[in-house]
Amino acid sequence: MHRPDEWWRGAAIYQVYVRSFADANGDGVGDLAGVRSRLPYLVELGIDAIWFSPWYASPMADGGYDVADYRAIHPAFGRLQEAEQLIAEALAHGIRTIVDIVPNHVSDQHPWFRQALDAGPGSPERERFWFRPGRGPAGELPPNNWKSQFGGAAWTRIPDGQWYLHRFAAGQPDLNWQHPEVRREHEDVLRFWFDRGAAGVRVDSAAEVMKDPALPDLMEGRQPHPYFDRDEIHDVYRDWRKVAESYARPRALIGEVWLPDPARFARYLRPDELHTAFNFGFLTCPWDAGRLREAIATTLAAHAPVGAPATWVLANHDVTRTVTRYGRAETGFDFAAKARGIPTDLELGRRRARAAALLSLALPGSVYLYQGEELGLPEVEDLPAAVIEDPMFHRTGGADPGRDGCRVPLPWTGAAPPFGFSANSQGAVGGTAGTVVAEPWLPQPNSWSELTVEQQAADPSSMLTLYRRALRLRHSEPGLGDGTMAWLPSGPEVLAFTRAPGFACVANLGKEPVALPAHRQVLLSSVELTDHLLPPDAAVWLRSA
Ligand code: NOJ
Repeated sequence: MHRPDEWWRGAAIYQVYVRSFADANGDGVGDLAGVRSRLPYLVELGIDAIWFSPWYASPMADGGYDVADYRAIHPAFGRLQEAEQLIAEALAHGIRTIVDIVPNHVSDQHPWFRQALDAGPGSPERERFWFRPGRGPAGELPPNNWKSQFGGAAWTRIPDGQWYLHRFAAGQPDLNWQHPEVRREHEDVLRFWFDRGAAGVRVDSAAEVMKDPALPDLMEGRQPHPYFDRDEIHDVYRDWRKVAESYARPRALIGEVWLPDPARFARYLRPDELHTAFNFGFLTCPWDAGRLREAIATTLAAHAPVGAPATWVLANHDVTRTVTRYGRAETGFDFAAKARGIPTDLELGRRRARAAALLSLALPGSVYLYQGEELGLPEVEDLPAAVIEDPMFHRTGGADPGRDGCRVPLPWTGAAPPFGFSANSQGAVGGTAGTVVAEPWLPQPNSWSELTVEQQAADPSSMLTLYRRALRLRHSEPGLGDGTMAWLPSGPEVLAFTRAPGFACVANLGKEPVALPAHRQVLLSSVELTDHLLPPDAAVWLRSA
């Protein structure tokens, strides 16, 4: 039996990307007041916790994953006091808050980095980062061959001739986690947010914070890897776990761990390290019964020995929206093969996304839902280059479409942009009617008039209604959430399993309708059913016989 305070083992967690959720002051950028005004929506949706992507002071070189001050809220989003109020208000509705911690790097505007630049080569201030002289006769070449994950070199040269390491954008200098102050500071930041009521943290790029201090060139097969999944990292999370457990209600640590090897992944989830980590094997898996069955089985097998619950993730602010992905010939996700403007059947994608929602919400463990997925929003693929902010787009000269297409502000009400995203537009959140509002920071497609919350709330066949019903059942069905599952016999194109007591989920990924297994009642279905047959690309929840 698990302890009752281990809520994270079976929670449905909703990711809020604040900038794009709801804008209460009409400046075109989402804010905390907007989230507060929409809390009733989240309560009705039926989620257990909100994970906020970074809401801190930041120059937004990477959408806020470049933190200038971990203890201050971005002025466009609000103030610290509002964050505290939001955490308390959400909790009063039974919704916990998870904040995003970004340990690998800070913003180039962070005081530590400014001090390091001022203090010069060889100074203790530079020791908190990775400053090195360049290679080549005049130091004109980067210190090693590491690449930025956003394209280009992972090094930028500064006027005094030294280079600094940034595995993401140039505005995100990597911290030196060998440095005791770096470790102390982050533990303090954890306490800062836990003291303000945060129930947990999501740890950004969790497998990447440690570097080989020799900074050797990256070479095929070189082990240990100079910056990925290094063994020393686990000591960091053991210390964080102690911080999390020093609270009467222990706080949860949730890792963003992209690791293909399930055994290496599970090491982060040992009983004295992180509590859970995102299941990217499931997210990236194509819409294929065999591959999904394997992904589910591998996930459960990897988690079992460490006693950690699995997580099920279909989307987040970094990947192509589910309905778009599932509407293409290649339904998996791969950062290296991102494409836009390729043939996409959104109707098929939406049908599959509905089935995938029921599948993922029925699997044992916790589940993550990225804002807008409950509306079935597609990826916006025709954003003009001039409005795109994502460094992934800019650092690759536009070769990579970037991630802004899944970050377009949500449509709430009305028939035209900004669809109630901003206050005073279409009579949405607060404010004085008639005030002029700024355009949303990314433009919304006109076609989203069909996808607003207002439209979908009134439509029993909408994606929103499906999610609301499913999340409600997730609370009322004792078999759902944390626990175990057992596969039911089925054809190769079908995923069918039970969750005791008395619940079954069946998903048909094949081309022909299949007969439902024996059951007493259909609880929920992603499509209308006739003659006890489950059509292709559909899923159903059953009260089992
Ligand atoms: C992972 C985050 O999800 C992504 O948005 C960000 O760009 C990188 N980490 C760097 O912080």
